[in-house]
Amino acid sequence: MKMEEAITGRRSIRKFKNEAVPREVIASILDTARWAPSWGNTQPWQFYVITGEPLEAFRKANRDEIAGGKVFAPDVSIPEIWPDHLKKRYGETGKILLGALGIAREDKEGRNNFYGEMALLFGAPALIIACIPRESSVEYAMLDIGLVVQTICLLAHGKGLGTCIMAAAIGFPKLLRSIASIPEELRITVGIALGYPDGDAPINTFSRVRAELPDLVQWID
Ligand SMILES: Cc1cc2nc3c(=O)[nH]c(=O)nc-3n(C[C@H](O)[C@H](O)[C@H](O)COP(=O)(O)O)c2cc1C
Repeated sequence: MKMEEAITGRRSIRKFKNEAVPREVIASILDTARWAPSWGNTQPWQFYVITGEPLEAFRKANRDEIAGGKVFAPDVSIPEIWPDHLKKRYGETGKILLGALGIAREDKEGRNNFYGEMALLFGAPALIIACIPRESSVEYAMLDIGLVVQTICLLAHGKGLGTCIMAAAIGFPKLLRSIASIPEELRITVGIALGYPDGDAPINTFSRVRAELPDLVQWID
């Protein structure tokens, strides 16, 4: 697969086939992803790969926490205040996503069902949890996590697998710690749902948008 094709072809997958991913395949993705860059080659990441029964237990408990109205309290907090132009992009993405499922804005039940599916990790048969040491400088180590997470997603895409990077998987760290035995010394940063994409699902095939280059790049010459 060409580099450009890999980067533009990777997309968040939000419906997975009910098919396990062999452990060797996940191991091979992580083995290659070790070559992602990091500050001073510190490689601050630790991964927990959750599958099988523990994953089933997690996804149901995660859904119950969300359905019960429990407030997200991730180890690395999600900012609530964003500049307007970023908030607008976020809002538009939500609209496109729900639109792909035929869920109208005022359809509260439809939206809740979608968030329920999200809490259930869209049926992914594997969840990779990326952690950093608790004592590390969070902002800086998060740069490294971003690099390795995208590397994992691209490698998975290259193997015909789908991924969804998921804040919705790490909102309740205590739950994850108890199911995956993640020690307090580690800060849970983000989850990656992994599995074989349900290729036909509208939620996996809608057209995505990106800001145009002039909105992003200043040329100084
Ligand atoms: C840090 C991070 C957290 C994310 N959390 C979620 C999530 O909880 N649920 C979800 O459906 N998508 C989540 N996403 C996926 C983004 O919505 C997605 O990357 C974005 O809309 C761009 O779409 P694309 O990945 O298909 O190109 C997350 C992405 C990132 C980088």
